[in-house]
Amino acid sequence: MQGNLQLTLAIIKPHVTKAPHALQKIRETILSSGFYVVQRKSTIMTEEVAAEFYAEHRNKFFYNRLVTLMRSGPSEVHILARQNAIKVWRSLMGPTKVYHAQFTAPESIRGRFGLTDTRNATHGSDSPESATREIEIFFPDFSIDRWFLKEAEYFNTGAVKLRAQEFVHRIISAS
Ligand code: RTP
Ligand code: MG
Repeated sequence: MQGNLQLTLAIIKPHVTKAPHALQKIRETILSSGFYVVQRKSTIMTEEVAAEFYAEHRNKFFYNRLVTLMRSGPSEVHILARQNAIKVWRSLMGPTKVYHAQFTAPESIRGRFGLTDTRNATHGSDSPESATREIEIFFPDFSIDRWFLKEAEYFNTGAVKLRAQEFVHRIISAS
């Protein structure tokens, strides 16, 4: 059973976390799409973290505006678990470019909550390798290997409960 779950890193960008209604709607989408929230934190990215996270885009024309946005306020950063988590989350987000999203996938997260190509609401890892790299950047104390060894089984069997205030799923202890 354990092999079924996959982890991905999902970020709700600062322009959305400033809008409680939009944040709530995206959280509802996460839960209704069958994701477990394994870890969650609110964080304002430092210049170093933003540069490491977006290293592949360093030479792109949109790099400065992207890093400026990501440093402009708190992001909600999540480790999400689900079967096929990477692909499903990216499909829920919709296309990168907001006009494209609004036209071709109006019900997607970016179609609903994206404002511009930079302020496109959310991030999602694009491969298992990216997910591992990104999880290590934001959750350096989280061990992916340990999670699959010791905790994935509880998530696989539904022995977890959402802590609504924290917006994170915790294992239901046997005692
Ligand atoms: P993400 O990494 O955020 O999940 O998005 P993605 O894979 O769909 O897109 P990617 O090419 O990795 O771009 C990363 C972020 O850069 C911003 N961007 N702006 N034309 C533009 O102005 C442009 N292109 C990309 C977006 O914020 C995108 O999410
Ligand atoms: Mg990307």
